[in-house]
Amino acid sequence: MSCVKVPAVRQFENLVHVSGLSSALIQDHYKLYLGYVHKAHELCCHHGQAVRQKRSATDNDLRNLKRDLTFTLAAARNHELYFSLLGSGEMDRPRLLSDAVKSDFGSFDNFLSDLTRTALSTHGWVFTVLDHHSGHLINITSAQNGQFPMWNATPVIAIDMADHAYYYDYGSRRTEYLNAIIRNLNWQNVVVNLQSALDAMMAAGLAVAVEKFGPVSDPSDAPATAELTSAHAAGV
Ligand SMILES: [Fe+2]
Repeated sequence: MSCVKVPAVRQFENLVHVSGLSSALIQDHYKLYLGYVHKAHELCCHHGQAVRQKRSATDNDLRNLKRDLTFTLAAARNHELYFSLLGSGEMDRPRLLSDAVKSDFGSFDNFLSDLTRTALSTHGWVFTVLDHHSGHLINITSAQNGQFPMWNATPVIAIDMADHAYYYDYGSRRTEYLNAIIRNLNWQNVVVNLQSALDAMMAAGLAVAVEKFGPVSDPSDAPATAELTSAHAAGV
């Protein structure tokens, strides 16, 4: 087995600014993320060496190792995206994001409504992805913690809908948790992710990116005035 270079643990200083979630919940959740990264290191750097020495392509140990490594890396990556987007509370949304959402959902309220309904339909993850084939933003789910279910698409938002993400603070009140997360979303960081996805599409020569978005502008472009007219402004 080739040993991938497992990314280092990431710090998220922005989490101190999260409102609506207790510090105990956030710290426990972050510890869970640390566990995924440390397990990935352990699997790759220690168990991986032992498996390599057996040199058997049909060894069950290798199969199990790869399965566990896939799970831990994907779970770590999902949580990194989720944590990186929290703690803003800013209502302004960059124009690039507003235009993309309006094109695909008709309005930002429609997008938030679809994101909410999609999130509440799963006990795993909800992702907003930019599909490289169509150029559309789509809200999709993953039932499992360590999984991103769609290739050739870039996630720009990830929200953890597993029990461990909210139960300590909200019990079964999943809608309240979700509203808190949406109020905390850092739309500037979301558009940075969108920009990265567009750059990848442009670099790959995907015409749909140019047709839909035109020349890509600075992600810090003048924000569209974003008065949250939806129920999310006050909580659904
Ligand atoms: Fe989680």
